[in-house]
Amino acid sequence: MQALVSRSADTPLEWRDLPDRPLRADEVRVSVEAAGVNPVDWKMRELSLLGGVQRVLGPRGPFVTGVDFAGRVIDHGPLVTRVRVGDRVVGGTDFSRQQFGSYARTVQVREDQVTSLPEGVSVVDAACLPVAGVTAQMCLFDLGRLPRRDARDKRVLVLGGAGGVGHFAIQLARNTGAAVFAVCSARNTALVQRLGATPIDYGAGDAIDVARQSGPFDVIVDCIGSKTYPIGRCRALLTPTGRQVLVMPVPADYVQLAFTPRLLTVLGRANGENLAPLVAALANKTLEVVIDQRIPFDEAERAHQVSRAGRVVGKLVLVA
Ligand SMILES: NC(=O)c1ccc[n+]([C@@H]2O[C@H](COP(=O)([O-])OP(=O)(O)OC[C@H]3O[C@@H](n4cnc5c(N)ncnc54)[C@H](OP(=O)(O)O)[C@@H]3O)[C@@H](O)[C@H]2O)c1
Repeated sequence: MQALVSRSADTPLEWRDLPDRPLRADEVRVSVEAAGVNPVDWKMRELSLLGGVQRVLGPRGPFVTGVDFAGRVIDHGPLVTRVRVGDRVVGGTDFSRQQFGSYARTVQVREDQVTSLPEGVSVVDAACLPVAGVTAQMCLFDLGRLPRRDARDKRVLVLGGAGGVGHFAIQLARNTGAAVFAVCSARNTALVQRLGATPIDYGAGDAIDVARQSGPFDVIVDCIGSKTYPIGRCRALLTPTGRQVLVMPVPADYVQLAFTPRLLTVLGRANGENLAPLVAALANKTLEVVIDQRIPFDEAERAHQVSRAGRVVGKLVLVA
């Protein structure tokens, strides 16, 4: 199979032929038609804690980055029952299972890492869901304990409402009936409003002070980080039982995470079970993917430069 190999964060991604691993009995091989781009894709290429963990736990050999993928099943092992050759699926790769990443012509993952796409859901939209959509969903419902069906009496604050995780979090919270508020820059207030949140423009004043007037909040999803939105100031905006979820904790946050009740962090698990409700929401049009740019796989390096700049609105997606 061919994959985009990363030798380091400073050398461009390049296509290489890699040997196919034998397909396990419970695995599918998928021809990748689109792959969502996430900040983790370029962070893994760096000499960071994350990059180090990948190199210790991940597969031997060249490093192939990327988690999100959508495409068509081209082969599967004998124990696979839920999908067949030709089915369109979306899923996430998992380096801890010795799988290469998704910046490749094909991926091999376990059947439970994918879910099927119904008619009417495009592979390009679906490919944007695994990391960002699943993380948003986990923040709100698993960690934030927002009721999935009727949360009309709840208030949710999303810090970083215009990015990949944030724009999904707004919509998923809005779908429950909760009142949603989202912090973004002036250029994104119209988008955030259209997605269902009351925008708070961080350029127009102290966003936390402004948010206080709309609180207290039952759930705060922080997609930006405590250097910008200090934990203590955010906690002061919570209801007595409110929960704050850090999507991107920095090392200094871990002591507080260990000792502060209802302060949590997340590790998005992009598997079939978590993806199924998001795919259903795309199909019934209660969830929209805002795509900033579609970029050919051959220009994945440029996609990483754009993502690194930190101004992506919604999602970047690589297309075959
Ligand atoms: N723990 C996990 O499992 C997990 C999963 C997914 C992502 N993450 C991490 O979470 C972070 C967010 O991921 P993402 O995919 O959402 O990133 P992203 O799409 O690259 O986020 C970009 C957005 O951030 C917004 N932004 C930048 N500075 C801001 C500020 N001061 N206040 C409010 N918004 C601001 C920008 O909007 P404006 O131009 O409007 O400012 C832009 O739209 C990344 O660090 C990522 O690595 C962690």
